[in-house]
Amino acid sequence: MTSLDIDGVRAEIDALDRQIVQLISQRQHWVVEAGALKADRDAVRAPDRVQKVIDKVRALAEEAGASADVVETTYRAMIAAFIDLELSVHESHLASVPCTTPNDTERLRFRPMTFDDLESMAALLGDPAVMTYYPAPKTRDEARAWVEWNQRNYGEHGHGLWVIETREGEFVGDCGLTWQKVNGRAELEVGYHVRADLQGRGYATEAAAACRDFARDVLGATKLVAIIHPDNAASARVAEKIGMRFLEEDHGGAIAVRRVLGMDFPEARGRGRS
Ligand SMILES: CC(C)(COP(=O)(O)OP(=O)(O)OC[C@H]1O[C@@H](n2cnc3c(N)ncnc32)[C@H](O)[C@@H]1OP(=O)(O)O)[C@@H](O)C(=O)NCCC(=O)NCCS
Repeated sequence: MTSLDIDGVRAEIDALDRQIVQLISQRQHWVVEAGALKADRDAVRAPDRVQKVIDKVRALAEEAGASADVVETTYRAMIAAFIDLELSVHESHLASVPCTTPNDTERLRFRPMTFDDLESMAALLGDPAVMTYYPAPKTRDEARAWVEWNQRNYGEHGHGLWVIETREGEFVGDCGLTWQKVNGRAELEVGYHVRADLQGRGYATEAAAACRDFARDVLGATKLVAIIHPDNAASARVAEKIGMRFLEEDHGGAIAVRRVLGMDFPEARGRGRS
């Protein structure tokens, strides 16, 4: 085998490793979802459930010409880790938090961000026109970390930033609800990013209003904020249009001063943070 062949093989292995890591992250997201849905621990521990998965992957390994024993060993280790993950989901009472998305709006729908969105998210967050008020546009690795952060948020809190897309499935950006620090306190924030070529059509306002309703009606939040760079007039305008007003300045972030707009939901059930 020549050194060129070896480089080619190594590149293929690297590409496969990337795919495997992405797929495992996706699997982790769905395991957390499944864990949140399960009613009791016995179902999570059920030994025949593990055996069924092992039988299935052994058959797939044989089909693909791989060693069924090696695949089984790998899967047993992975399943053990995922069972821990499912149990931790139970232990942190996440089953009580519905992992749903805001309702569709007139033109938009929401869905959880996955690694299939990495291209679109990297283009969005890597666009200097979109990231004007951030320290810098995000690299592809930072965009990947953004997707991972949101997947962790879905698992831990039942909400995060979701992908927003048109009813026809065209990627528009992201919008959603995350916990952020304001002067050292945790506050539920609505955040939004819209593709530069789709801005100015009312999409952010439409999506943020749906998130506001979700925070109030589904999460039972008592308060919602938007933390905004003082020069980001478009973002402030979106916050105002969904009913927010200036609350305070924040001095705890990466930039010296951020404006905090927000609103209270006096009628909410006050369930708030999980
Ligand atoms: C903020 C952002 C999401 C708004 O998206 P959008 O889909 O264009 O928003 P909408 O069309 O719903 O509304 C934008 C409003 O801001 C206004 N606006 C836009 N640019 C403005 C500017 N430079 N100065 C003042 N108002 C401005 C628009 O006129 C509109 O208000 P109007 O309906 O009263 O006319 C978008 O600009 C964006 O992605 N920015 C970069 C990411 C970002 O900064 N996110 C917020 C982080 S805090």
